[in-house]
Amino acid sequence: MPAPTPILATRIDDGLTLPTGVGELDRVLGGGLVAGSTTLLFGEPGVGKSTLALQAMRSLAMAGSVVVLVAAEESAAQVARRARRLGPVPADLAVVATNDVSTAEQVIERYRPTLVVVDSVSALRDEGMSGSSGSVNQVRAAAERLCAVAKATDTALVLIGHVTKDGELAGPRALEHVVDTVLRIEGDRHGSLRVVRALKHRFGPTGEVGLFEMVADGLRELPDGSLNPPGPGLDVPGVVWSVTNDGSRSLSVEIQALVASSTGSPRRVAHQVSSQRLALLLAVLEARCGVELGGSDVFATTAGGLPAVEPGVDAALALAIASAAVGFVVPANLAVVGEVGLAGELRPVSGLNRRLTEVRRRGAERVVVPAGSALESVAGLDLIECRRLVDVIEAAQPVTV
Ligand SMILES: Nc1ncnc2c1ncn2[C@@H]1O[C@H](COP(=O)(O)OP(=O)(O)OP(=O)(O)O)[C@@H](O)[C@H]1O
Ligand SMILES: [Mg+2]
Repeated sequence: MPAPTPILATRIDDGLTLPTGVGELDRVLGGGLVAGSTTLLFGEPGVGKSTLALQAMRSLAMAGSVVVLVAAEESAAQVARRARRLGPVPADLAVVATNDVSTAEQVIERYRPTLVVVDSVSALRDEGMSGSSGSVNQVRAAAERLCAVAKATDTALVLIGHVTKDGELAGPRALEHVVDTVLRIEGDRHGSLRVVRALKHRFGPTGEVGLFEMVADGLRELPDGSLNPPGPGLDVPGVVWSVTNDGSRSLSVEIQALVASSTGSPRRVAHQVSSQRLALLLAVLEARCGVELGGSDVFATTAGGLPAVEPGVDAALALAIASAAVGFVVPANLAVVGEVGLAGELRPVSGLNRRLTEVRRRGAERVVVPAGSALESVAGLDLIECRRLVDVIEAAQPVTV
């Protein structure tokens, strides 16, 4: 029986962190991939899993690391075509086209790469196991074997997993407890914004986000925040500038609402904003602010596809709806921050001061904040403290159309 030893005296051996060189990915990982650890990267078909992995591999290979892609779904030629899309292909970036776990294992043991990416883990087969490729048993057995080899050889291993449209991780859900880190890549199929999140991370914080734009030659990093920062006003009702806190970042976001008379039972459509918050805000607008919405369809979204689901954007979303319903234009130099309570009151939000810094940086001149917040003054930013949502609607109405 091993004797318990003091934690204080225990050597911390977390493995070497390898910055991938893809800054937005390293940000999510808290520095980089960890040698000997396994990361699951999953997302919907076509979202950009293979592209992101290839960019990280390419960047590490350019820095001189030996990097191997185990292509379990595509031929080496298909991989090469994709790799060329991203630019010059470094010499140390190698590919093995196989879906056999034992072969993948042997490649890792023999070549000891710094990074191995398996695309995808769902396509791997362990001949010693029953079940077809992609079955939970097969996927789990393959992942467990490769994790063990990665640990023994100090290889950073990335497993790519598929997720179906309804969000169920096909097979790889069973892997969440097998791997050290779980990254999800999110994005609207029709939009170009991609958000990478750490859902589980044994070596750092979770909840951090990385932002990318899908362009013709791969994923472009967005270290500066959102894709479409609020700019000069469109001069139409229903558009409000806010800022959402996601992980440690404060991201400017344009909230848009449209209110239209309904022909049947009213539709309420929330895209990239929370449908629960939308329902609550519609009730508060009617009950506390006298905004008539009963017979109307209400659509709410963010411009550019950035998710803004936390309560800090409540006041901006409610103001966007009021502005659309009543028909006034909210000034483009005004940003709005605040959670809304059922009594129609504005409640303080987390991380207010960094939200203020972000909107100022983006050119806001005035910002609505909940009254009583602990505020640091930001040079050049005029703070409008409001106690109630109805006061926000009043403060934002200099122009009537
Ligand atoms: N060689 C290429 N040239 C142009 N566009 C490409 C190329 N390869 C991929 N794309 C595009 O890039 C986007 C992301 O593709 P990618 O293959 O990285 O997604 P994925 O998440 O790995 O998809 P899958 O689930 O099918 O493996 C897709 O919209 C795809 O059409
Ligand atoms: Mg792919």
